Amino acid sequence: MQEARFIFENTKINIDSGAVTWEAPSNIALVKYWGKKEHQIPANPSISFTLTNCKTTTTLHYELLSSPSEKFQFEVFLDGEQKEEFKPKIAAFFDRIVQYVPFIKHFKYSIYTHNSFPHSSGIASSASGMSALALCIMSIEKKLNPELSEIEVIQKASFLARLGSGSACRSLEGDLVCWGTHKEIPSASNLYGVKFPYKVHEKFKNYQDTILLVDKGEKQVSSTVGHNLMHNHPFAENRFAQAHDNLSKLITVFETGDLLSFIEIVESEALTLHAMMMTSLPYFVLMKPNTLQIINEIWSFRKASGLHLCFTLDAGANVHLLYPESEKEPVLEFINNKLVGYCQNGHYICDTVGFGAKQL
Ligand code: DP6
Repeated sequence: MQEARFIFENTKINIDSGAVTWEAPSNIALVKYWGKKEHQIPANPSISFTLTNCKTTTTLHYELLSSPSEKFQFEVFLDGEQKEEFKPKIAAFFDRIVQYVPFIKHFKYSIYTHNSFPHSSGIASSASGMSALALCIMSIEKKLNPELSEIEVIQKASFLARLGSGSACRSLEGDLVCWGTHKEIPSASNLYGVKFPYKVHEKFKNYQDTILLVDKGEKQVSSTVGHNLMHNHPFAENRFAQAHDNLSKLITVFETGDLLSFIEIVESEALTLHAMMMTSLPYFVLMKPNTLQIINEIWSFRKASGLHLCFTLDAGANVHLLYPESEKEPVLEFINNKLVGYCQNGHYICDTVGFGAKQL
């Protein structure tokens, strides 16, 4: 079993209390992860840009217990305020990872977390939040096992983060991370994210992601429910094959800097993701009228300007605008003149591709 190498067997606990802080960014998928097997194994490979400004900062205080506890003891605070409602997700995360990090039973925890983006922005904090927490736990493992290398820490943190939320395993490093086995990427794994190993054209350096906040409400359907609807989905097999193909095509696009092909692949991936939602049983629609308005505006703008602005979508109504840094000025002008009107309270967030998590 490949997972076995992530089990940390040591039973000697020679530290008693302390605190560690990590910040981890969000990421935006270009080829989407949608559909999974047991134990958070993705049904298809995905690739994402790591972001910079949308991030979670987490401080984990740990204190040695007199004897290991069967039930995890922790409290969690968001911006200083205790959050009972976050506990079930974190307890489930601890349950899933304890076999790989058995020392976690020996401590009780206070988790202090802060998101750079507003909680009610419709931007999921699970990717940045789970990767920051996984890294804090790996910092404890590193104290117990100082021989662990930086690479091992990052890889196991990605492995643990995946068990919390699949896409979180792509938030540890940058600037492009793939997750899920693929015939042209021998280093890729279903168990953790890896840095995209091939050449990336200058045009993709500092790529911009402006997130238009169309709907800041809670999602009606969680990603986990959506993934499960890919079981017995009539188009599932074709969709998974398409993701493999699109990742192959992106390898070439990243090398050549062919932005028109990039746009076609990325927009098709976003629309396919939502098409899968609309064609599952039960079916559901996460786009809002303004999502479609924005998409049409982008297409008209692209035709008229010849610029390389495109969109992608997550499992929600917000629109991520992707464009090269060199086109920033006219695109921002277009956003401010036109697209801002489709955003809830005129809100949008400017982000750019980044390089992963940092210990503070
Ligand atoms: C649409 O990672 O949130 O953003 O593993 O159930 O926590 P769980 O799902 P999650 O799914 C994200 C799906 C997506 C596409 C992507 O990021 O690849």
